[in-house]
Amino acid sequence: VTGQGDGSGSRTEPPIERDQTADRAARAALLHELLGDGGRLVVVSNRGPLTFEEHGATPGGLRAERGSGGLVTALAELGRHAPVTWVAVAMTAGDRIAADALESGDQPRRSAVLSLIRESLPDQDITLRYQSLETRVFERYYGVVANPFLWFVQHQMYASAYGPNVDDTLLDAWRHGYRPANEALANAAADAAGEATRATEARGNPRPPIVLLQDYHLYVAATRLRQLRPDATILHFTHIPWPPVDQWRLLPQGMRRALCEGLLACDIVGMQTDRYAANFVDTVASFVRDARVDRAGRTVAWRGRRIRVRAYPISVDPDGLGAFARSAAVTERVTALRARVRGAGSPRLIVRADRLEPSKNALRGFLAYEALLAQRPELRREVRFIAVQSTSREHVPEYAAYAAAVHGVIERINANAAADEQPVWVLDGSDYAMAIAAMRVADVVLVNPVYDGMNLVAKEAVLVGERDPVLVLSETAGAAEQLATDALTIAPADVIGTADALERALDMPVGERRTRLRHMRGSVRQEDLDWWLTRQLRDLAAVRRGALPPSRRLRDNIRKVEGIEV
Ligand code: G6P
Repeated sequence: VTGQGDGSGSRTEPPIERDQTADRAARAALLHELLGDGGRLVVVSNRGPLTFEEHGATPGGLRAERGSGGLVTALAELGRHAPVTWVAVAMTAGDRIAADALESGDQPRRSAVLSLIRESLPDQDITLRYQSLETRVFERYYGVVANPFLWFVQHQMYASAYGPNVDDTLLDAWRHGYRPANEALANAAADAAGEATRATEARGNPRPPIVLLQDYHLYVAATRLRQLRPDATILHFTHIPWPPVDQWRLLPQGMRRALCEGLLACDIVGMQTDRYAANFVDTVASFVRDARVDRAGRTVAWRGRRIRVRAYPISVDPDGLGAFARSAAVTERVTALRARVRGAGSPRLIVRADRLEPSKNALRGFLAYEALLAQRPELRREVRFIAVQSTSREHVPEYAAYAAAVHGVIERINANAAADEQPVWVLDGSDYAMAIAAMRVADVVLVNPVYDGMNLVAKEAVLVGERDPVLVLSETAGAAEQLATDALTIAPADVIGTADALERALDMPVGERRTRLRHMRGSVRQEDLDWWLTRQLRDLAAVRRGALPPSRRLRDNIRKVEGIEV
């Protein structure tokens, strides 16, 4: 997105030199090597790219919306880059109706859903398969084991004196939820893989399947998949942090070993950052007795196979995002926001856009803003903090309590001011267009998670911002390994440090803002979603040839940033 601002601080950004044609050709060659003619990548995740809802008035009685969350935000455009069959869990009643229609022989129903998919995911070569799970399985797998348990462990969210409690409920959910759900998805993946392979055989250039398993919902799926398809090349990618080994010691030995062994059934274990990759290798070394690890080479030898552990920092699709940022839906919201901002005396804007949940650390973000306002009372007039907030997993008690605490602080800051004079404006973040609109007009974007696998808001903000936004970023977000030198980095618990960084960001001269932004933009454009995928394809192709994956170690920029003395 270039220079489409409102005249205040906007400019035209020179395009980043990148030979997209060469990139595309390299990817096409890799895809051809891996998939032959007619083959497809099989992607498996819990949430699919589209969520279907019942909607009487539409053809087929369904409406489709893009799924939420980091995984879908990143992967929703994948079908533009490669032929994909995507297996996901039918999470809503609408998903189940869509799944049914896709399987059914009823042609009109089937084609209504197919055209809905085509409309919702334009220009993509994508086939969707939604796998239904019994409610009691789904609730245990998703609502007890994956969220909150694994999520909390991996984001180090537990106060370990109080949780987790590996009690009967959790063990039952592991046995009768997580495991069977993983098996069901592995079965569905094997089916899809079989279909893809048969298509290549029919064209006389047979290829074994490539399966890309996604995220913490599916740690043990490869165990089954490997039995069903010993010939498959399997890569599992974890979108969230892989914490240091001691965090895993909270879990019973059998469970940690099963998680590790599930991942070791893959050929490549992918993590967001090199630090997480190192943590995973350590975890295996600690818990899987018959594994031999090579820490420097990031490989594990286990039961006659060699598993490679690599970092693939996920990213966004800059062109797709740019087009969306300029779409009517976003532009409408930008116009309305600008009008509201003008009406409030044209304050500068700090923006955050995230789900209201503990790992995103909104509470400390607002405490920092409160401290800044106490320090510099004139900023009450000159600045507004826009929080584009979506609710998340409200049924998890910790989330509800956290949301209440955040609302309490916002109320305290806003006191009794009239709506537009309030220092904090909360906007509806279930509306993705609103989040992007707010990022377009931001002067400062605050991304301060306690722990975060990557954090795509940081990358989106860098691409779509029109007012030379300064990024204030937690060191503990995966994105910091890439962006630390040009963002203002903070320690997530450091409320005063965050207040200082916000102040520094607001006061930063425009020349410095531009230089920093240019570096970050260049880096995000370079290491985009295409790069993320191609890096994996290159490694998968190497594995197929029996070679070591060529992807190089990535630099960790956090190590370059000097701390300020306290
Ligand atoms: C976050 C994580 C993703 C994860 C998703 C699940 O966005 O970064 O890795 O897959 O949450 O969210 P959901 O709403 O599907 O449970």
